[in-house]
Amino acid sequence: MKQNKLRNDCAMRPVISNLSHNPGADIIRYARNKPDVMALGQGQGSSATPDFICQAAQRAMDEGMTFYDAVLGRDELRDEISSYYQRIYGLDLPMERLFVTGSGTTAMHLALTALLDKGDEVVAVTPIWKNLLGAIEMAQANTIQTPLDNIDGNWSLDLDKLFDSCTDNTRAILITTPSNPTGWMMSHDEMRAVLEFTRKRGIWIIADEVYTRIVFDGVHAPSFLEVADDDDNLFVVNSFSKNWAMTGWRLGWLVGPRSTEDAIRDIVLYNNMGVPTFNQFGAIEALRHGEDFLKDQIGLWRANRDMVRDRFKDNERISINYPPATFYNFFRVQGQHDCMQLAKNLIDQAGIGLAPGCAFGKAGGGHMRLCFAIDKEPMIEALDRLESYVGR
Ligand SMILES: Cc1ncc(COP(=O)(O)O)c(C=O)c1O
Repeated sequence: MKQNKLRNDCAMRPVISNLSHNPGADIIRYARNKPDVMALGQGQGSSATPDFICQAAQRAMDEGMTFYDAVLGRDELRDEISSYYQRIYGLDLPMERLFVTGSGTTAMHLALTALLDKGDEVVAVTPIWKNLLGAIEMAQANTIQTPLDNIDGNWSLDLDKLFDSCTDNTRAILITTPSNPTGWMMSHDEMRAVLEFTRKRGIWIIADEVYTRIVFDGVHAPSFLEVADDDDNLFVVNSFSKNWAMTGWRLGWLVGPRSTEDAIRDIVLYNNMGVPTFNQFGAIEALRHGEDFLKDQIGLWRANRDMVRDRFKDNERISINYPPATFYNFFRVQGQHDCMQLAKNLIDQAGIGLAPGCAFGKAGGGHMRLCFAIDKEPMIEALDRLESYVGR
């Protein structure tokens, strides 16, 4: 009788056991339990979710909204997202194109799961948030990194370089705009050019627009949804996390062509059957009444962005950038190219935990990312500590 090949029962699938390691997570672990370290390495503000959002979820719980709900989100929320796009972007997106997800990260996984076969390629504009690269790895696809160009902290994309990176195996182009960690934003003209290219080649665009509202001029960043047709091969990822201080709620949404609704519903059904019912009532309130909160947050973050610039613009030991969007500064310290070592030094010698640039793909190497979404006083303290390390 043929014997089954012996398997080590503890072994994970190779795709999981071979996941590339995550330098950002390493640094967070390194800083954990060290006394008096300011944690500015993670991408979230220091404000808690506003009361009016929490109360809506609490009311829903009190009223017994504790049962399974519609797999792609309750109609009331999908409809509210549609109204939000109408109000903020002047766009007409029917709720059949709007899928509520258990976070922006989940929205990305859904898009990738729907599109990718083993061995497909995703061309990703980098530097990019490491978790997105991890999600591609988990989908057993290959990533081709196309780096932004960087001249003195001003990041830009060479479209020819992006298009030249695409091969016959390319299934999707992944663009985060505005970009975590650089703050770079793609223009409408660049988006049109990418759309034209992908239409010709039958490639999908996956746009991560999680930071689309965190801009320091205007109300929102350019969105692919403004230039695309309804049935273009386009998925747009969005989230409640950053705009309304809801990182712990794990709520986001995915926009896709109408034709993808059934596929996405199936994937969610076999995954976790949708998002928590009562949380959705908080999300509805955030969309309906969250503009003042967001405006206040952006006011604080703008002041912090400017504070970083004012502190370091004449300091030759550090090259900071001046991002038009997001709440990150992505900088270099002169003469320090090993960002893992630098991250550890900053923890041990200056008491600040920042994200190492190599966590954002090859193009991020040598940089550090500072999240400035904190209150004014701790911001001043953090800059004092950074300055004490780099020198004046
Ligand atoms: C570019 C980008 N996309 C997605 C996310 C995750 O958002 P969520 O909290 O909704 O999963 C982040 C979080 O830092 C991010 O930077």
